Amino acid sequence: MRKKIIAGNWKMNKSVEETVELASAIKGDLGDCTEVDVVICPPFTALKAASDVISDSQIMLGAQNMSSEDEGAYTGEISHGMLKELFVRYVILGHSERRQYYKENDYWINRKVLKALEKNLRPILCVGETLEQREAGETEKVVEVQVREGLKGVEANACSEVVVAYEPVWAIGTGKTASAQQAQDVHAFIRGIVRDAFGPEAAGALRIQYGGSMKPANAAELLAQPDIDGGLIGGAALVADSFVEIVEAAMPRD
Ligand code: PGA
Repeated sequence: MRKKIIAGNWKMNKSVEETVELASAIKGDLGDCTEVDVVICPPFTALKAASDVISDSQIMLGAQNMSSEDEGAYTGEISHGMLKELFVRYVILGHSERRQYYKENDYWINRKVLKALEKNLRPILCVGETLEQREAGETEKVVEVQVREGLKGVEANACSEVVVAYEPVWAIGTGKTASAQQAQDVHAFIRGIVRDAFGPEAAGALRIQYGGSMKPANAAELLAQPDIDGGLIGGAALVADSFVEIVEAAMPRD
């Protein structure tokens, strides 16, 4: 059984003060949660504040990007060492906003994935098609290239440390969610690619999150799908109550 993982991608939102407020509220409700991996990803400037708030809880810290390099003359970049100093455990890589606005490509995203794994940070590799690509029937082709290129050179036994986030670009911040079946189909497809590339054990251990307008109203149905192992939450992660409700929807039922 794969443990579900719910991560809040705060994007370019929240000051230090607001971060302390939101992280404290989330900790108040989920500080002891061990049934689901709960991750918050504030902006770089608020990582330290968030880290201090959640240090005595089960909540884990994630960053929204990371340099592929160790240190040196890379103006504006943040290294793995800087993140680890703040107890960051996860790092979102290749988010569609970075692919789209900052022209990040599979080659560089793959270098970051490999660097993160080498340094014991868990990558959350984001993949997903645009509306145009979906309408042209290219979803599988696009997602396959992003998954294969993004995970190139990863050791099969490291797949349990990797999270892939399937985020159809047309569903991000638009209020349009992929239906549970549409999402499940792509998640199963992604797991199949990983099986083909790394073997059944790796495919069984890899966690695949859905992202794109996930909210309390649709979380339970999405998270009930066999290949959906969690969520990467944008807008709904900025409000403690809705983030907490999504985590509750991910709790194992028996
Ligand atoms: P959204 O964003 O939940 O606001 O659609 C998800 C994401 O981009 O990670």
